[in-house]
Amino acid sequence: MKARKTARYDGLAEWYDERFVVDAEPHQPGLLDLLGPGSGPCLDIGCGTGRNLGTIRVSGRTPVGLDYSIDQLGRARTRTDGPLLHGDAAVLPFADASFDTAVSMWISTDVDDFGAVLREAARVLRPGGILVAYGVHPCFNGPHVVYEDDGRRTVHPTYRQSGWHTDMPWWGEDGIRRRIGMSHLTLADYLNAVVDSGLVIERFEEPGGYDIPHALAFRARKAEDLGRLPDRDRGDRFGQDGQVGCGGLGAGARVGGGSEGDGGQAQGRDGAYGNALDETDRHREPPSGW
Ligand SMILES: C[S@@+](CC[C@H](N)C(=O)[O-])C[C@H]1O[C@@H](n2cnc3c(N)ncnc32)[C@H](O)[C@@H]1O
Repeated sequence: MKARKTARYDGLAEWYDERFVVDAEPHQPGLLDLLGPGSGPCLDIGCGTGRNLGTIRVSGRTPVGLDYSIDQLGRARTRTDGPLLHGDAAVLPFADASFDTAVSMWISTDVDDFGAVLREAARVLRPGGILVAYGVHPCFNGPHVVYEDDGRRTVHPTYRQSGWHTDMPWWGEDGIRRRIGMSHLTLADYLNAVVDSGLVIERFEEPGGYDIPHALAFRARKAEDLGRLPDRDRGDRFGQDGQVGCGGLGAGARVGGGSEGDGGQAQGRDGAYGNALDETDRHREPPSGW
């Protein structure tokens, strides 16, 4: 698969960060529980401005951020001195079985093909490795859902229209979706994308404390006996030597030598990043911003 040329999130990093990260309500309640304690590099697929890097560190792991937007990565650089890579989640610039842990936080609506991302996550995980994903709840959140002022939500018949949506009358003028658009998967399409990745689901959650969930999260594991996944169309994106991080985008993108500047080692660099989000804080209101 060829990478897109333009990044939808370029030019929005400062706005996104101020609106959804700095002083914003927590967006990943329970992430530490789903991750559990661990060690070693954890790939943050679509890391954006890096709001999950601190939580990954708190779990004991060393975050390795990857995003398609250089602009977002620039902001993420303020939150880590570790590796950040410019790359496409659907064509990950890593050899098979490179990571014990990966997270995919709030990107299912922003990538062209979430199924391809999940398959790539499965490929770069080692047998026994885990993927934790948070994203928009396919039923109660998305282009087909209107957040009413009284707390109800209206679900429109467009629910069944999986695919990219660019304009919904109920999207706010100043919201993220009017700027970016949004990919929607029905619940069945979403779950089947997980099943088709070959990862084995261990847990689903509908995080957040309010009555109608807006998020769906899961932890899935690469089976111990799965071994190397069957080769798919690999193109020329992997190096001959199978090293971690033979970059698909940009020069020299490798764990420990990210394309976003000073890229440190994936392991062993113990940065002083102290911006962990408070996992005990629970959402009181559904997030706005569509
Ligand atoms: C809603 S933001 C979420 C960012 C971050 N995970 C968070 O929780 O704040 C979606 C992110 O996905 C990134 N993205 C979209 N398509 C991508 C792709 N094909 N490969 C890598 N990142 C991508 C965007 O650049 C953006 O940073």
